[in-house]
Amino acid sequence: MNEKLERQIETAAEIIAAAQHVAVLTGAGVSAESGVGTFRDAQTGLWARFDPQQLASQEGFAADPGRVWRWYMHRLDMVQRARPNPGHVALAALEAMTPTFTLITQNVDDLHERAGSRNVLHLHGRIERFHCNGCGLPYTLHPQDRDAPMPPTCTFCTDYVRPSVVWFGELLPAHELAEAQRAAGTCDVFLVIGTSGVVYPAAHLPRIAKRRAAPVIEVNPEESALSDMADIWLSGPSGELLPRLLEAIRLRRAGQANVS
Ligand code: OAD
Repeated sequence: MNEKLERQIETAAEIIAAAQHVAVLTGAGVSAESGVGTFRDAQTGLWARFDPQQLASQEGFAADPGRVWRWYMHRLDMVQRARPNPGHVALAALEAMTPTFTLITQNVDDLHERAGSRNVLHLHGRIERFHCNGCGLPYTLHPQDRDAPMPPTCTFCTDYVRPSVVWFGELLPAHELAEAQRAAGTCDVFLVIGTSGVVYPAAHLPRIAKRRAAPVIEVNPEESALSDMADIWLSGPSGELLPRLLEAIRLRRAGQANVS
């Protein structure tokens, strides 16, 4: 790891170790090292020819419910075969050592939960949950649903069942968004990990923190739409940098404990 990055990690660790309230926004990049492609990456092979709007929208679902259902069963299978990576695990460990910790994710996978994160705010829903597209009744997936050519139908209103993820043009869950905005408005430091920062309102959250002069720290191997606003940009994969950052925070916390 180069000298400059080492120094940046130490500076970031100092800020986070002193923070009472840490807020984190994650995107698809935090799951990349678990082999879960980003929304757009996942459209490889037979799915590459479809436009995301056709696979993740009410219009696409109405036009071809079977195709949308098969796409989400494909992604659910990919998520459930994946394992949390060291980046997910480091975030769960950081939560356990921080007085107030708010983990906000744009990801629909459950890798944060499987890594041990306790209260995760899913702004874009969760792929392992389902509900009726008509009446909203929750639905429990049955094994035979996974290979079915068409979505199951609701036992109450007979409309089609869909994954509980936010589709293009749909509103984000109000409670999760309000909690995320509140965290951005009260945190001592805001971490942005593995997101291109182009989808709103999620991408607005670090700006809320920045406006209050809370430091914004980004972890991403590439420059994102949020990098110009970040006080520190740790350029590298989160699966590698987050454990390193956690170690530096642990050392500082231990040092603080000895002094006090
Ligand atoms: P994107 O695919 O737009 O961006 C992924 C980001 O992760 C990029 O900035 C990559 O540079 C970065 N990245 C790749 N590998 C990484 C690694 N190992 N460690 C850290 N970062 C890495 O995914 P999101 O920003 O999450 O919305 O996309 C946001 C939303 O756009 C998604 O939630 C989805 C999509 O439309 C909905 O489905 C509603």
